[in-house]
Amino acid sequence: MREWTEEEKNRFLESPDQIRELYKKVRRSDFRQTYHIQPVTGLLNDPNGFLHANGEWHLFYQWYPYGAEHGLKHWYHVVSKDLVNWNNCGLAIAPDKWYDNGGAFSGSALVMDGKLYLYYTGIHTGDDGVVPYTCLAELFQGSYRVHKKDEPLFGPQEGYTHNQRDPKIIKLASDRYVIILGAQNDAHQGRVIVYESRRPDRGFKFKGEINVPGFMDFGDMWECPSIQKISGYDVLMFCPQHITLKYRGQSQNHNGYIIGSMDWDELVFTPVGQFHELDFGFDAYAAECAARKRSWSETTLISWMGIPDATYPTDGEEWSGCLTLPRNLRVRNRRLIQEPLAELAALRDDEADPLLEILPKACELNVYNQEEDLELHLFTKYDHSGGISICYDSKTKILTVDRSEMTLTFNNDDGNVRTRKLDGGLDHLRIFIDSSSVEIFVNNGDAVFTSRVFPLDNEHYFQMKTRAEVHIWKLKNAVCDDFIV
Ligand code: FRU
Repeated sequence: MREWTEEEKNRFLESPDQIRELYKKVRRSDFRQTYHIQPVTGLLNDPNGFLHANGEWHLFYQWYPYGAEHGLKHWYHVVSKDLVNWNNCGLAIAPDKWYDNGGAFSGSALVMDGKLYLYYTGIHTGDDGVVPYTCLAELFQGSYRVHKKDEPLFGPQEGYTHNQRDPKIIKLASDRYVIILGAQNDAHQGRVIVYESRRPDRGFKFKGEINVPGFMDFGDMWECPSIQKISGYDVLMFCPQHITLKYRGQSQNHNGYIIGSMDWDELVFTPVGQFHELDFGFDAYAAECAARKRSWSETTLISWMGIPDATYPTDGEEWSGCLTLPRNLRVRNRRLIQEPLAELAALRDDEADPLLEILPKACELNVYNQEEDLELHLFTKYDHSGGISICYDSKTKILTVDRSEMTLTFNNDDGNVRTRKLDGGLDHLRIFIDSSSVEIFVNNGDAVFTSRVFPLDNEHYFQMKTRAEVHIWKLKNAVCDDFIV
C-alpha cells in the first residue's frame, strides 16, 4: 500500500465541489446500474456494517471518492426499508484520526440497547510503518451522524504481520462479545484471531487464534472472516488469498465457506465438509451477512461485485464497483443455498415478449429447461454472434459460463470461463441483468454465478438455442443515485 500525501489525506472534507464535478461525469456513464448499490463517484469495494435496526436496514461500503483506484478508504452509508429500494446517506466514516490516517478499512456493526456500533480497521501510517487498529464508532439513528471514539479499541497483535483486519463483532451472550479478525501470521499463513470482552464498547482482550483442522495452511491471509449460525450450523466465511482453486482459472481471489461447529471456549472450528466457493462467477468478494429480523435463523448476504487487484472498463469514467443483490442463505445437504430475496419480486414491471429476443437494460429472466442440455446466449449482437454463453452438458453434468466473446473483456488473466458440476441436472435459471452486471441463480439457489458485464449498444440480444420456457420481466429503477456526500 502506498503512503498518502498530506493533500490526499485532507482533500475529502475540503473539496466536495471536486466530487460534484466527478459525479457529473460518472452519471453520463452507460454502465450506471439501475437497481444495484453503486458509488456516487470513485471506487466501491467491500460491503460493511450490514444490519437491521429500528425498522431500517443499514449498509456501508468501502469508498474512495476521487477515482477508480484503491485510494484512501472511507465508509459510505446507504439505508433501506425493504432491501430493494435504497437511499444514499453520504459519508459515514472519514479517515481523519491519527489511528486511521491510512484508511478506514472494512468492518461490521452491532445494535445494543438502542446504540448502533460500527467496528472497523483503522490503518495508521507513519514512521513506524503500517499499523492496523481495531476502532469503534457510534451511529446516531435519525441523524445518521457518526461519532468516532478518541482512541481505538486495540492495536495489533504480536506474532502476526500488519495484515490484521476486518473486525466482525459477534454477541455470544448478554455479557460475552467477541471480535474476530482476519490475519496473517509471521509464517505467512492465513488465520482468524479472537478478542473477547464482557461489553461491546470496551475491554477487548486477545484470546487466541481459531484452529480450523485441515485448513491451517490454506492461503497466506484470510480477509473478511465471519462466523454465523445458518440453519442450525456454524458457517465460517472468509476470503483466502494467494491460492488457486480447481475450476477457478488462475484467479487468486476467492470467497468461500466451511460448514461446521464452533467452540468459542476452546477456539476450535470443526468442519463437517470442504471449503466451498460462495459464488461461481467472476466478480464476487468480501461477502457480508446480516441476520433477518423476523427469523434470526435466516441470513441475508451481500457481496462486492468485484475482485481485488483488477481493473474494470468504467475506471476511465472515474467510478468502479457495485454490490450484489441481497440473497437469502440456508443450508441444505451441507451446502449453502443462495436465493434472491423474495422482496425482489417488487422490482418486476411489465413482462417483455421473449420472442423479440432483445434484453431490456434491467430485467429478470426465468428459464425453465425442457431438455437435458441447455444452451443460452446473452448480450449477443443482432446476428447472435458474441455475448456470454451459458451451457449445460447433461453427459458431463457441467454448467459452463463463458464470457470470452464479449467485445469489452477485462481481467482476462483470471480466465474467461467458469464451471460448476450439477449432479441433479439443470431445471431452472433465474437471471438478473442490470446495465453492467449479470447474476445467474441456478436451480433455486444451488449455485450462483455473479459477474460484471459491459455490453456495447449492439450487444443486447439473446438466443435460447435449446427448448425452454422463458419469461422476461423488465425491472424498475430502485437505487437512489442522488448526489449526497
Ligand atoms: C477486502 C479488503 C479488506 C480490507 C478492505 C480495504 O477487499 O482488502 O481486507 O479491509 O478491502 O478496502
